Amino acid sequence: MLPLLFLLLLLPPPATPTTPPPAPHLLLNIDFPDPTLLHDPLTHLWHAFATASGPLPLQAASAPSPLGPWTHHPSLALLASPAPWTTGLHSWAPSVHRLSTRANSYILYFSGQHANHTSLHCIGAAVSHTGPLGPYVPDAEPFECPLEHGGAIDPTSVVDGRTGERWVAWKVDGNAVGGGGYCGNSVAPVTGTPIEMVRVDGGRRKKGEVVRVWDREEGVDGPLVEAPEFWDTGTGEWVLFFREI
Ligand SMILES: *[C@@H]1O[C@H](CO)[C@@H](O)[C@H](O)[C@H]1NC(C)=O
Repeated sequence: MLPLLFLLLLLPPPATPTTPPPAPHLLLNIDFPDPTLLHDPLTHLWHAFATASGPLPLQAASAPSPLGPWTHHPSLALLASPAPWTTGLHSWAPSVHRLSTRANSYILYFSGQHANHTSLHCIGAAVSHTGPLGPYVPDAEPFECPLEHGGAIDPTSVVDGRTGERWVAWKVDGNAVGGGGYCGNSVAPVTGTPIEMVRVDGGRRKKGEVVRVWDREEGVDGPLVEAPEFWDTGTGEWVLFFREI
């Protein structure tokens, strides 16, 4: 063993500050689609939530910092039971937010496969009073379900910093009933895929009208826009991030 120990002691010193930064590395080397992030102020843990993958339902992982180390929870059931209006399969794009109404209460919005229209998804809501990793009890009815326009996917939520009111937003999944072609929506007549939002009480009781805030622009965007995220700058100006294809 002595010669080996000697060799180890002769290794070069640790990298100096002038060394180029390491190549980007994967924080979680698994299929973890559509991730969203939540900071839990009670435990100071970060949680990431993701679309179902293979046999796994909606997924979660936790870390002490966004930089990791991330621990995946492969056998965690975020939903106490599938929402009754869904097939319980192909749940997408969970988005979790802390409710201010009760300590340790959280709401999870997700896109669920509709039981009677399996080619379409709608938005469901589920509440946990036992922390961000659930279990969440889903509402019996979908939160938003415009079946005639293709259903709805990609829920998100943001609190207006000036009024304290919560908004919930989603994408109307028009391309699910499009005329076909690329992403199901590049053959005329091309359908709209608008981003819509509404104010809520307690995370899921709608207040006021649904507002259409954005849609794909013909000739500018491709067959769809989706995955909205809002940022309230606090100055009266809000920023909408979205994905376009
Ligand atoms: C599915 O169809 C059945 C039979 O018509 C109906 O009773 C049920 O409410 C429908 N489910 C949903 C989620 O619309």
